[in-house]
Amino acid sequence: MDSKQIREKYIKFFVGRGHKEIAPAKLVPENDPTTLFTSSGMQPLVPYLLGQEHPEGKRLVNSQPCFRAEDIEEVGDNRHTTFFEMLGNWSLGDYSKKEQIPWFFEFLTKELRLPKEKLYVSVFEGDGDVPKDMESYEIWKSLGVDDDHIFFYGVDKNWWSRSGPPDKMPEGEIGGPDCEVFYDFGTPHDEKYGKECHPNCECGRFLEIGNSVFIQYLKRTDGLLRELTENNVDFGGGLERLTAVSNNNPDIFQTDFFADAIKSLEAIRKSSAPDYKTNPRPYRIIVEHLRAAIFMVGDGVKPSNKEQGYVLRRLIRRSMVQSRKLGMIGDEWLSNIFADLVTPYIKQYPHIDKNVPQINEIITQEVDKFRKTIDEGRKALKRIYTKVFGGIDPDNLQGNIIEGNKLRISGDEVFKIYETYGLPPEISQEIMKEWGLEFDEETMKEAMEKHRELSRTASAGMFKGGLVDHSEVVTKYHTATHLLHQALRDVLGPQVFQKGSNITADRLRFDFSFDRKMTGEEIKAVEDLVNERIKQDLRVDHMIIPLEEAKAMNAIGLFNEKYADKVSIYGVGPDYQLDPKALDQRDRGGYYSLEFCGGPHIEHTGMIGKIKITKEEAVSFGVRRIRAQLT
Ligand code: SER
Repeated sequence: MDSKQIREKYIKFFVGRGHKEIAPAKLVPENDPTTLFTSSGMQPLVPYLLGQEHPEGKRLVNSQPCFRAEDIEEVGDNRHTTFFEMLGNWSLGDYSKKEQIPWFFEFLTKELRLPKEKLYVSVFEGDGDVPKDMESYEIWKSLGVDDDHIFFYGVDKNWWSRSGPPDKMPEGEIGGPDCEVFYDFGTPHDEKYGKECHPNCECGRFLEIGNSVFIQYLKRTDGLLRELTENNVDFGGGLERLTAVSNNNPDIFQTDFFADAIKSLEAIRKSSAPDYKTNPRPYRIIVEHLRAAIFMVGDGVKPSNKEQGYVLRRLIRRSMVQSRKLGMIGDEWLSNIFADLVTPYIKQYPHIDKNVPQINEIITQEVDKFRKTIDEGRKALKRIYTKVFGGIDPDNLQGNIIEGNKLRISGDEVFKIYETYGLPPEISQEIMKEWGLEFDEETMKEAMEKHRELSRTASAGMFKGGLVDHSEVVTKYHTATHLLHQALRDVLGPQVFQKGSNITADRLRFDFSFDRKMTGEEIKAVEDLVNERIKQDLRVDHMIIPLEEAKAMNAIGLFNEKYADKVSIYGVGPDYQLDPKALDQRDRGGYYSLEFCGGPHIEHTGMIGKIKITKEEAVSFGVRRIRAQLT
């Protein structure tokens, strides 16, 4: 079975059980300064899991592209990726364990035809005030799962929240006990990972393929857990992994997502370089990182030294390091595998499909830019290596790493290479790791610190999927963005349309379609108009109405209408509540601004204070960007 069939089967299965398919969120979340990427299917649904009404109802399903930067170092084994698709189904205060567990079991055994004997499950053993999950245990048993296939674990393994176990959850975070399902490949246990094998053992025998989280708790301000009254289910299962198990092959890089790209790489590698079977690691890193890069660029990220752009740059550079390992000097590896990596997504993700040439161009430019740096920096590192190991060329080691040698490369030396050739210390570290070298950790750490300070990319905590920030200041900026959108249309004309938005606690950034630089007068007019609307202290109304009604009222904004019947819109307007029927003849229903939006917003515009436009610049052809701050 290929990934497309599995994705389709899953969606169909849950639609058949009363779920509505919702469009996936962007990989780069909008208006959420605390996290760089969407890292799970539930992330965009947090407000709804907390009780806000979802326009599509209480049962939802989708396949969500996710990125987890924290797994970047793990990539290279047979199962870790940074980017993946998460199949997800949710109950927003509707069904619970009695439905979720049998449904997922049925999906695995009937739809994917996985033998019951190969499935193992884990259940929460209880902790503090949260009891052992005997209900889930009994349900698994009733489905015919034997006792020796059910394992109990504590908060480290069977509790899920975006921040980890209960003591790590910040105030306002939601989470709960979960049930994971594992597939047993039957490979022999490796004692390096512990005496006994069990589903959470890392030896490779078991692969986790799905996680049903029962979101029953909220972290209170006093640090205790509060039990939620509603039943919430948050299920997530990695599509890559489900595809691998449905083919009974533990190597996810042999699924249709990657297999062709790996074959293409093998065909163009230098003849003396190892094939996939002999040394799969470089192949896996190249195809995995490049696929992630394709999705990031497809969502509008550009390589840079900050935030998402920095992660993208890192992915591309890391794959370049590995391409050298396969003896490839130019960038033919890139163009050769690009099409292979995109093919599985044709039709599924039009934003990738339709922009293939542009995405390819942006990645190729970055590769070109970095080529000289990497090749010269690499040569300099090689000179150090050769001096220490009496003339041995590390590229001729063929996997025969010289064991036990600790090369005392000092942080200053690494930093010198950075200053001379621009090769970042972490990339030097990557290269030297490939040559089997151990590092002088202390001085290496110093060099890394220096580098981080320089590139200002540390953004502590941002690589993790933190709590979505609904802080007051971010919410004010969000409402200000709606006013700005409408003011731009008023001043520049209705051809202006939102192209993107990004808010932090310090500023808003708004991209819009417009084909020339704005004049100073226009900028001032927009700023004045927004400030006037703020001063008028307009009320902000939230409505969930049928899509057709929202369209009839000319609601604007970014909206993916692939699946929705009902939509959420926000109106910032004069002084009366929107009544769709009474107002459908009026422009924007009588509101000054009327936008498709999931919220949240402040209640009235006076709370914003005042804004100042600090910059207006080009982003790409026909797209401009405004930065503004609250003053
Ligand atoms: N949110 C859970 C996870 O990421 C299940 O969807 O594992």
